[in-house]
Amino acid sequence: MQFSDEFFGSEAQQTVSRNARDILNLCPDDPRFSYNGRIMTVVGYQGPKTNEILTSLARLQGSATCHFLPKEKADSIKTEIEADGLATNIWEFCEARETAYEAAKEILKQHELPADIVVERLSVDTDASRVRDFAAMAADCGVLAMCGRVMRGLDVPGITLAGIDQTGAVIASAWGYKCYHPKSEFSDYAFWGGLSCREDRRGQKIALVLGALTIVQLWKKLQVRGFVTGVTQGNEASFSVCKKLGLLPAGRIGLGVTNPAMFKGTTLTK
Ligand SMILES: CC(C)(COP(=O)(O)OP(=O)(O)OC[C@H]1O[C@@H](n2cnc3c(N)ncnc32)[C@H](O)[C@@H]1OP(=O)(O)O)[C@@H](O)C(=O)NCCC(=O)NCCS
Repeated sequence: MQFSDEFFGSEAQQTVSRNARDILNLCPDDPRFSYNGRIMTVVGYQGPKTNEILTSLARLQGSATCHFLPKEKADSIKTEIEADGLATNIWEFCEARETAYEAAKEILKQHELPADIVVERLSVDTDASRVRDFAAMAADCGVLAMCGRVMRGLDVPGITLAGIDQTGAVIASAWGYKCYHPKSEFSDYAFWGGLSCREDRRGQKIALVLGALTIVQLWKKLQVRGFVTGVTQGNEASFSVCKKLGLLPAGRIGLGVTNPAMFKGTTLTK
């Protein structure tokens, strides 16, 4: 099966994901960057040139994100980037190390999935239509899927789980990718989350259980020892699920940068 063309979302979102793959091919081994199948990100504060690096990356890619940016650095970088004509947005970074693993194991002891739901891990054997359905369901919830190769476990070590109902429809998602460079201080972290649940199935702890399953599997199978996710201010459902899994704000943010001509006031993802 050929997976190189599975990109999802609007035209602008797909452009970013395609560009990210090309930028990865140009600089596959630079610890300042991380590729997660959706976008190439800058990892952490990169000194006084952080705003220039982000601006260049956003111009090339259509969008850029700085992961793990200390909050005290954010205001000045944001102001400088906006002065260059680019738009910005902020995700609160919720993080945890072993507490997430312990919380996830406890959640799995306490809660079961509804009887009609099965869990499937996306892989190279997954039908293209299933991967498309997964991405479409996540998109309906405002979450941009990673490209197919990454969700199938290629290119970046990771786990992508789909909750599937009796009719075969994808109704929930969760994922995590060990996407930070081995020389990065975040090398043992996973960019975790991708939580979504079709509206009519919310409130049944499906997202919570899938989120917990990904954490346990990332810990056991991929030796992940830290978990991080970005949450937009006001997304109380997401903060609530994160908190139950031990992931809490820790003084760092994700700073999103977009080309306003492409994104017209929207962000790359929720
Ligand atoms: C986030 C999302 C996946 C949660 O799905 P869900 O089915 O409501 O969550 P669960 O049933 O697994 O519930 C987990 C906990 O979150 C709580 N929760 C859910 N929605 C909530 C809300 N709006 N406000 C506060 N808490 C909320 C639940 O009450 C539950 O806690 P409880 O055990 O104390 O009852 C769902 O709201 C969604 O798809 N949102 C859109 C996509 C999104 O924002 N994803 C996150 C991107 S960062």
